[in-house]
Amino acid sequence: MRGFSALFYIWRIHIRRHILMFATAVLFLGIASLFYALEIYMIRFIFDDLLSPQASEGKKMAFQEALGKLGVDLFAGVGREQLFTIIPLTLVAIFLLKGIFNYFGKYWLDAVGLATITDLRDLLYKKLMKQGQDFFAQFPTGTLISRLLNDIERMKTAVSEKLTEISTALFSLVALLASAFYQDWKMTLVSLVTIPLVVFPMARFSRKLRKVSKKSQEEIAKLADQMKETLTGVRIVQMFRMEEKEAERFGVANQHLYKVNLKATRVMALTTPMMEFIGAFAVAGILYYGHFKILSGTITLGSFSAFLATLYAMYVPVKKLSQANNIVQQAVAAADRSMELLEWETAVRELPEAGELGPFSEKISFENVSFSYGATPNVLDGVTLEIHKGISIALVGPSGAGKSTMVSLIPRLFDATGGRISIDGVDIREVTLRSLRSQIGIVTQDTVLFDLTAAENIAYGNPDIEMERVHEAARRAKAFDFISALPQGFDTRLGEGGYSLSGGQRQRIAIARAVLNNPPILILDEATSALDAESESAVQEAIRDLMRGRTTIIIAHRLSTVMDADLTVVLEEGRIVEKGRHAELIGSSGRYARLCAMEFRAALSDGFSKGE
Ligand SMILES: Nc1ncnc2c1ncn2[C@@H]1O[C@H](COP(=O)(O)OP(=O)(O)OP(=O)(O)O)[C@@H](O)[C@H]1O
Ligand SMILES: [Mg+2]
Repeated sequence: MRGFSALFYIWRIHIRRHILMFATAVLFLGIASLFYALEIYMIRFIFDDLLSPQASEGKKMAFQEALGKLGVDLFAGVGREQLFTIIPLTLVAIFLLKGIFNYFGKYWLDAVGLATITDLRDLLYKKLMKQGQDFFAQFPTGTLISRLLNDIERMKTAVSEKLTEISTALFSLVALLASAFYQDWKMTLVSLVTIPLVVFPMARFSRKLRKVSKKSQEEIAKLADQMKETLTGVRIVQMFRMEEKEAERFGVANQHLYKVNLKATRVMALTTPMMEFIGAFAVAGILYYGHFKILSGTITLGSFSAFLATLYAMYVPVKKLSQANNIVQQAVAAADRSMELLEWETAVRELPEAGELGPFSEKISFENVSFSYGATPNVLDGVTLEIHKGISIALVGPSGAGKSTMVSLIPRLFDATGGRISIDGVDIREVTLRSLRSQIGIVTQDTVLFDLTAAENIAYGNPDIEMERVHEAARRAKAFDFISALPQGFDTRLGEGGYSLSGGQRQRIAIARAVLNNPPILILDEATSALDAESESAVQEAIRDLMRGRTTIIIAHRLSTVMDADLTVVLEEGRIVEKGRHAELIGSSGRYARLCAMEFRAALSDGFSKGE
């Protein structure tokens, strides 16, 4: 049932802003349904006053009688002839008024629904942008995209379009029911006996549909996940000649979706015929009962026709309600999933009383830090390290040792599961994320370029910065020359839809982005992928320049980087096993020496032959 309360919650928090429009819309729809019931009741006068051969001049007409009961004797004195004009004109007026109230009621209610859904999409996206890595590990990108687009689209249908339909139907039903009771309460009661016959199967349908709909959305999310994966990696797919296999895998998932959707359609298609069948019983019963009353003269033909038409008219809103119910069931399932995203409490949280972290002045300390990604064993285990201001540290170790993990704890991409990390003695969990992250420049192992120009990619996060500073950062990252040589220089679009850069060029853009603000702390996760010789040496040079006199933590895969660092820290299986200067460590023939022998063998001989 969380879905219902979710839908309700979404309404409650967003509807407040449009409460006046909402209330007016509801009122208008209510009035429109009164006119609807009236329009049907007019059948009585058409039959009894206009069509019936028994109606004669001089006798009080049913129309005038009814008006008289309401205390209106507008047309009290007029004869039958005039009623031939008055009744049709009244009917036209009723239709017109009904139309006007319906139009504004529907339009305003829809407008509120649309605004609500737009708000919700914004809210969800905002929430996504603030989530920690734990969240993204839980929800793959395709799933999130599917939820933000498909689920919200379903809710839109329910909340905006169907809501007006539901309210119109509900109001009409109430108005028609009232009218039916007013006309003949006994016959109305008799026909109401059929209601439970409709309600019970409907409830079953609803439950089933909710389940199927949930499944369908899950299948769509799966498709989206696979598409995201294979489209971003389409080159690999083609290189490994997996096009057919991937298409097959997609086909299987797509078939699943087809079957689930088919099931939903079957349930929905069954609703209408079933209701109509049960309704037919009610009408048959009333006809049987009614013909006795007409024969015995208890009611006029006009009254009976009006009553039957009223009952029959109820069928439309009931049908609408049952169809809308189907849509609402799907929306409830969708709302449920949106709620899951909204309610997700990310692991990396800012304390309400979090203060600002002052400018970095002394040291970063890891104190007995351990970390584990969820259920897995510790990736970091009792890491203790002090990084003094102005020092450059090279972090080395075998693949999977936990190097990337360790540096990602400093800007709080994850929180340590044990121990603490402090900057200048302040626990980083006690300061605002903004003040912490703004002091750290980071280049991750996989460089991300956005679908923006080169300049905008470098200025990412600093949209108002002067061009001169962007150029300066590019120069420091040794990226200025190649960017200038691009077709539109710094205005060339990069990223997925834009100009393709080499791995080394991408990295230098990422470095320029990281150093743009001259952050006091710089973290570089050297890419392990091989770069072409020219890019390689340019990246090297950029890194070497940056390390000088700046607090830098660099995960090094190149010997030359390690040799330039003030301190080398060796990480193995989540523990610091050695630290010291490169020369000392090589001399001590410990773990580092062995690692060098294995990993840097080629580079080492290369480096020595160059006399470094
Ligand atoms: N998001 C994640 N969820 C679960 N486990 C992870 C996650 N990221 C990394 N790991 C695991 O944590 C361990 C350490 O990974 P990490 O990326 O820190 O290694 P690394 O030292 O940077 O390796 P490399 O030199 O190859 O980049 C690995 O065993 C890896 O499988
Ligand atoms: Mg790594």
